[in-house]
Amino acid sequence: MAPLTTVTRALARSSPAAALLRPLTAAATMSTSPALRDASSTYQSPFKGESDSTKMPDFTKYMSKNGGGNQVFSYFMVGALGAISAAGAKSTIQEFLKNMAASADVLAMAKVEVDLGAIPEGKNVIIKWRGKPVFIRHRTASEIDEANQVNVASLRDPQSDEDRVKKPEWLIMLGVCTHLGCVPIGEAGDYGGWFCPCHGSHYDISGRIRKGPAPLNLEIPAYDFSDDDKLVIG
Ligand code: FES
Repeated sequence: MAPLTTVTRALARSSPAAALLRPLTAAATMSTSPALRDASSTYQSPFKGESDSTKMPDFTKYMSKNGGGNQVFSYFMVGALGAISAAGAKSTIQEFLKNMAASADVLAMAKVEVDLGAIPEGKNVIIKWRGKPVFIRHRTASEIDEANQVNVASLRDPQSDEDRVKKPEWLIMLGVCTHLGCVPIGEAGDYGGWFCPCHGSHYDISGRIRKGPAPLNLEIPAYDFSDDDKLVIG
């Protein structure tokens, strides 16, 4: 009978695992083939023969032979990437600003045009502007006179009538009481102007506070006359 080790070797040679191992053995054999051995024997290490490890070896033979050709390419790439980044940044900022800008309906609300020809002398009109009431008073000559007779120094919020109007016959004010924000009533109060029923503030015919808890005159909004009978508020 054959010894046990001889039988085991024979079985291993004929098994599928042995078939897998055979190419690996062949590759191991190739790695030491004469061609590879020749290639490795021609390689010259730049550090070979250097006794001083701090000395920089000579790499000139590995440097590019085409002069500044690589630099031109580098400059081109840097320039191109810079241009693309700038274009991207510009478009992002433009989109951002477009989103932040007021929409058309908001812009339309920002200014209101009023036809003054439709407001008779001695009458009040209230319009809505940016969610707030605006009083427009077509004043009579006697009302203008009365507004100018007042001693400005005696007022709680001293302001002359001419500082509150652009044309004496047209008084334009925000209809918001300067005490706590109620809407005063026109042609009422002790001074023939406006009266705030919330806590009893009296404003005169120029919208100046004369009596009651309100600290300031009625506010004058930004406005202009686009022509003789057109008022633009805002
Ligand atoms: S809110 Fe007008 S008097 Fe107070």
